[in-house]
Amino acid sequence: MRTGSNSIPSSGGMSRVDGRLKVTGAAKYSAEYEVKGLTYGVLVGSTIAKGTIKSIDIKRAERAPGVLAVITHLNSPKVPGYQSANNTPKGQIRIFYDNKIVYNGQPMALVIANTFERALYAASLVTAQYNNGEHQTRLTDNLQAAFSPKDDNEYKRGDPDAWRSAPVKVEQEYLLPSEVHNPMEMHAIIARWDAEDKITVWDKTQGVKDTQTNIALTFKIPTENVQVNSRFVGGAFGNALQVWPHEIAALIGAKVVKRPVKLVLSRTDMFTSVGYRPHTWQKIAIGATADGKLLGINHHAVGQTSAYEDFAEAPADVSRQLYACANVATSNKISSLDIGSPVWMRGPGYATGCFALESALDELSYQLNIDPIELRMRNYTDVDPESGKPFSGKFLSDAYKLGADDIGWSNRSSKPGSLTKDGWLVGYGMAGGVFVADREPATVRATFTDRGKLILQTAVSDIGPGTATAMVALAADTLNIATENIRFDMGDSSLPPAPQQGGSTIMSSVGSAVFLACKQLIEKFKALGDSSDYAQLLKQNKLPKLEVLIDSKAGTEVDKYAMYSWSVHYVVVHVHPVTGVVKMEKVTCVADSGRIISPKTARSQIIGGAIMGIGMALMEEAVIDHRYGRLMNANLGDYHVPVNADIPQINALFVNKADTNINPIGAKGMGEIALIGMAGAVANAVYNATGIRVRDLPITPDKLLGALPHVA
Ligand code: MOS
Repeated sequence: MRTGSNSIPSSGGMSRVDGRLKVTGAAKYSAEYEVKGLTYGVLVGSTIAKGTIKSIDIKRAERAPGVLAVITHLNSPKVPGYQSANNTPKGQIRIFYDNKIVYNGQPMALVIANTFERALYAASLVTAQYNNGEHQTRLTDNLQAAFSPKDDNEYKRGDPDAWRSAPVKVEQEYLLPSEVHNPMEMHAIIARWDAEDKITVWDKTQGVKDTQTNIALTFKIPTENVQVNSRFVGGAFGNALQVWPHEIAALIGAKVVKRPVKLVLSRTDMFTSVGYRPHTWQKIAIGATADGKLLGINHHAVGQTSAYEDFAEAPADVSRQLYACANVATSNKISSLDIGSPVWMRGPGYATGCFALESALDELSYQLNIDPIELRMRNYTDVDPESGKPFSGKFLSDAYKLGADDIGWSNRSSKPGSLTKDGWLVGYGMAGGVFVADREPATVRATFTDRGKLILQTAVSDIGPGTATAMVALAADTLNIATENIRFDMGDSSLPPAPQQGGSTIMSSVGSAVFLACKQLIEKFKALGDSSDYAQLLKQNKLPKLEVLIDSKAGTEVDKYAMYSWSVHYVVVHVHPVTGVVKMEKVTCVADSGRIISPKTARSQIIGGAIMGIGMALMEEAVIDHRYGRLMNANLGDYHVPVNADIPQINALFVNKADTNINPIGAKGMGEIALIGMAGAVANAVYNATGIRVRDLPITPDKLLGALPHVA
């Protein structure tokens, strides 16, 4: 096994096993399958935010060329699972269920035609009359109505008011706008009924098993009668973690027209129909001693949710455990608005919380005149302050040092606005990230053939991090065989169960199962004879193959340790003193996520997350026209995300120390920590450059204009 080292070369490690398939277009995404008799569905969304449908006119659409069906709440077949869901007060939209409109853009009709263009045209002919209700879509007007969806959303230890009597204090509010996932591949499904109680879907999903279960429950058919294929996924940041109404719509449609239906969301639908990171208000109060010891933290968050679902994140929870502090109070509340439901988005809660906490800590550092890294080290803890348990593995202090050296932290000025270069203001900033390190149950089948091939099979999706690549690297390392001889099968619900690809759990969960399967194969080979030529051993024993099935899950270690991955982001920004443009000049990210199994894909993962964090800091913002409760920038022209020209060299470094307490491979997730903390690092750098503290993201030039220091 590799020894711990952070000197992972930037070009080291194996390339993606599916890289060639992806760049040549040979990799098929859900919408790209050729299914016999295929038809095309297009959704029609509501144009009001709240009310009821008085009448809906589908006649012109029905008469349009090539149209096979127009489905609404008036003619939709009943969905069996929807009927029993009557008892659940809150949950997802039941599509075509009744005439209630609960957000602007809510699907009201599905038009199915024999070509996509005809379906799209016919959809434009559907009109509706409404009884308008009075909508509320502005979070900041509805903070008073916030509530705790669960009791454990409020937390206290020690004296919650301790911060008030501290010698040095920060008390500030922070705002994060809604952000939309916008993976390159839009949500897409091909839905087919193979029999009255049998379904096949090709569907973009982060969890084929979860999608299988959900569809089976919704249509009340046996789970094994639902086949979910999601072989390749073109990005997903949490929005493919659940089955959405459009997927059920496609299945309803396929039932009606008795042919398979393909439904691809438009980019605009992607903004309204598959969740987003919730707009969140936070208030933080911190008190410290003059030498920077934290005496008390209050952290309260209110996120927006829909009127029909109590979706809640826990942004304030980072303040329970990021720093040693005896007196802490946190709460995570939500406010119900007449908008679509939010959902998890990369680093859910933690990204939002770390922006606020790490900004507040930066503010404190200037008041104390203590270096921000030094301030964090003075409040460093190896024991989880919430549970009292030791961390399973925490080397964040190593990460601080690695990143500080790489970015050239010693060149930072502690006086805001005092550094310039070529007429631009220069600022250094840093902030940390943390995310829970879970290990979920996972089952892997490993088959070794007498031709020397290893086939690994499990029903996981790969939304982009390079799961197959990492698993092949791990198996090659464990069995000491060439990576070319290993195949990793996934994205198919008929394979052995694996968790959803979400919450940075797959390396730990599936990776452990792969490792244990390889170990068990080695034991079985040992029993066959004394040779490391496994194919030869099988032939000698007249065995065509050797197969093991490993069920793996977390054990009692979860009771002994608090388990997290950590990161720290360092940035240098240049801010234009006249225009307020913020240019990312240099970025260094350091991950403390245990042992690095697959250096090249790990590096990509960190860089991708960092870029998403830069978007969060400087650009991303879903804007509602509150008169209509409708998104104004539901397209990639008006909703800004970083492009290559916005992004400098990003150095991804790894502490690369195995966390041997969490699982047998010592690896933890890094998908979320890649992003978490970045927005705070950028905001802190902008302050260092300008003396302007922006607490409401994104940091657009208008928030800096008029207050920028003069540059001679
Ligand atoms: Mo995610 S929010 O781990 O897909």
